[in-house]
Amino acid sequence: MKRILSGMQPTNRLQLGNYLGALRNWVDLQGNGNQCLYCVVDMHAITMPYDAAQLATSTREVTAAYLAAGVDPKHSSIFAQSAVGDLHAELMWYIATMTQIGKLDRMTQFKDKAGKNAEKAGLGLYAYPVLMAADILLYQATHVPVGEDQKQHLELTRDVAATFNHRYGKEFFTIPEPMIMGEATRVMSLRDGTQKMSKSAESDMSRINLTDTAEVIADKIKRAKTDPLPLPETVDGLKDRPEADNLITIYAALSGTTKAAVIAEFAGKQFSEFKPKLSDLTVAKIGPITEKMRHLLAEPKEIDVILEAGAEKARSIAAPTLKEVKQLMGFWKA
Ligand code: AMP
Ligand code: TRP
Repeated sequence: MKRILSGMQPTNRLQLGNYLGALRNWVDLQGNGNQCLYCVVDMHAITMPYDAAQLATSTREVTAAYLAAGVDPKHSSIFAQSAVGDLHAELMWYIATMTQIGKLDRMTQFKDKAGKNAEKAGLGLYAYPVLMAADILLYQATHVPVGEDQKQHLELTRDVAATFNHRYGKEFFTIPEPMIMGEATRVMSLRDGTQKMSKSAESDMSRINLTDTAEVIADKIKRAKTDPLPLPETVDGLKDRPEADNLITIYAALSGTTKAAVIAEFAGKQFSEFKPKLSDLTVAKIGPITEKMRHLLAEPKEIDVILEAGAEKARSIAAPTLKEVKQLMGFWKA
């Protein structure tokens, strides 16, 4: 049996990169005897300035997005990290003692988020990958489906697990495998093909939100940055054309084909011909999710029921793991 675990932060609205790089794969991984745990990582969301009055609402919104995309609470447990926060934070502390700061210093997400003023960044932002490692190890997850940007954090998680196992003389923690799936493992900004599409980027025009209307989606794609050349004849022709590559990648991922198949269809065509097709496809795939999210959010109590059941299940898995960690580490009466 695979135990799948992943999470997203309830910061802003989810964007197309979250969907294609992660969420869609989470849905596909349900079934086949897999046990799936999908967390809303609200304790990670407070590592950057945020609005306390909005946090619980954002947690429900992200839960609604999971559900609308097809995560099925009959097969998967959906829970808020803070609902099991005592256990996540406790394990984080223990494994923090075996995380080298040299490794944390190399984390690119920290460098990006801290920016030029890294001295003033909070300890939480710096320690963020240790909490993520705790999220994963607490459940003995075997597989973690994420976008490419999370690979470095997964490597750190594997290192920490191996260090623990070595130090305490037992193959206790499962070493989790990252799963980076599909054509669109790194969706780029619509304004700059060298930057990742992100829900926290300043310009809303840089991303497609899962809550955008058909008109907004069409407008964003129409105004997406491109280059003056027609679409190439081969996938190799996308080299050094990051914006073209990105739009082709999105098309391939949304239509469930490959970049080569999309190129074969649009070789030599102008963006003016390709973009309306991409808009139609995006609206066709995202529209129903947006619609479902709206319905779900009209009944926030039902979302809370799902989150409560998820938290109970999560705790039932996490508590015995933590107990054994404490025993292995030699704590009094553990
Ligand atoms: P976050 O928005 O940072 O909470 O990310 C949640 C999940 O979405 C993680 O698995 C990320 O790797 C994935 N993700 C976020 N942005 C992108 C993107 N632009 N392309 C592909 N995957 C992404
Ligand atoms: N760090 C991840 C991101 O920014 C979110 C996350 C936190 C996560 N804990 C996790 C993802 C555990 C997978 C498993 O996208």
